[in-house]
Amino acid sequence: MFDTLIGPSGTLKGYLRPETAQGQFLNFARLLDFNNDKMPFASATIGKSFRNEIAPRAGLLRVREFLMAEIEHYVDPNDKSHPRFHEVKDIKLRFWPKGIQEQGSTEIVEQTIGEAVASGMVDNETLGYFIARIYLFLVKIGINPQRMRLRQHMSNEMAHYASDCWDTEIETSYGWIECVGCADRSAYDLTVHSARTNTKLVVRQTLDEPITVEKLEIEIEKKKFGPRFRKDAATVEKFLLAQTECELEEFDKELKANGKIVVTIPGIAEPVELGPDLIKIDKIKRTEHVREYTPNVIEPSFGIGRIVYAALEHAFWTRPEDEDRGVLSLPPLVAPTKVLVVPLSNSPELLPIVKKVSDYLRKQHIPFKVDNSSASIGKRYARNDELGTPFGITVDFDSLKDESVTLRDRDTTKQLRGSFHEIIKAVREMSYHHVSWDEATTNLSAFEGQSQSEA
Ligand code: GLY
Repeated sequence: MFDTLIGPSGTLKGYLRPETAQGQFLNFARLLDFNNDKMPFASATIGKSFRNEIAPRAGLLRVREFLMAEIEHYVDPNDKSHPRFHEVKDIKLRFWPKGIQEQGSTEIVEQTIGEAVASGMVDNETLGYFIARIYLFLVKIGINPQRMRLRQHMSNEMAHYASDCWDTEIETSYGWIECVGCADRSAYDLTVHSARTNTKLVVRQTLDEPITVEKLEIEIEKKKFGPRFRKDAATVEKFLLAQTECELEEFDKELKANGKIVVTIPGIAEPVELGPDLIKIDKIKRTEHVREYTPNVIEPSFGIGRIVYAALEHAFWTRPEDEDRGVLSLPPLVAPTKVLVVPLSNSPELLPIVKKVSDYLRKQHIPFKVDNSSASIGKRYARNDELGTPFGITVDFDSLKDESVTLRDRDTTKQLRGSFHEIIKAVREMSYHHVSWDEATTNLSAFEGQSQSEA
């Protein structure tokens, strides 16, 4: 775990994680093994993360401890195409690229993700694919697409690890809030973990045709290592052999310029000096049958509390005819309770049919609530509209004759009639299978019952 500085003065050391990502990178070798060494692949974590917010504010939005969900998608740095990009390429998004921000303008560029990747505004297909999938996810849970924008990080604010980064911002009553980040973290994290732990974090790809490569390699004068470094000899050797091509290039320059290199090696207190008597760095030509590379990482990173807050704000409205009647228009897919079962009166005669409807809903695994309180039916509908329950099933005295019930839509208050089996089937399709009201209710008939009026 990285250390972090906490408290108002920022001088206290703490070991709380600022992101869930690092736990995944540490497990990279094991995760690759779980995936049968096949690329690309992804890992995901959800959990608490912590930031040193000096002045937490804005309700749930600026907090020290928050729920975060992150996907780390590992890709070949030489091929960042995505096999399913064609599925999302025509989705139109609202971009706020860094060039426009630098001019001090808030103008939005509306274009498809396909166009944004083709022009190079979004760096690559995999990054673009995830940006589009984030959008689809947010729309699905009820975020208004017109109140969403993609803000590109400017060069001076990009995290040290990122090569391109786009935040999905959502407009709320607190202004535009960063809710999801999507970054190309390049090979940064795996390279640093690898260097610090002296462990190779690479993918080995068997090549169809062998290739000849010229690479810098380090040669170690092993016989002299023992006498020179004694108990630390193995640590020094492991450290040197774990260096990347770029690091060897730096060592080579230093060796040529100063006649020695001086390195700080984890686990050894004093810096270690190495001269040409101990190491040689040369370009070596080799035929290789296996390509070894450090994957790049595309990371969608979700702030769950912020997303939930924005979804609730976007879903809430009041009926124009009565400002006191609030409605929470949660999409059926995310509404915690899908159905309100309301007996028209609390007459004991209706209990058996209420039980029958409830049993069938339970059997179908549809979350529901029964409101058999003595409040008027209009009041019972209204308070469940405010709780976000998308559908109502009303049981009345006609239900006793033919098992017919009324289906009520929360947002339009429209009511239709059908057998309770038909109606529960429609609820199921609308809640879990993205079927619209019109499509799901074609078999149901109009209902004009006076007794269920909402007045
Ligand atoms: N991992 C992205 C972030 O911490 O914001």
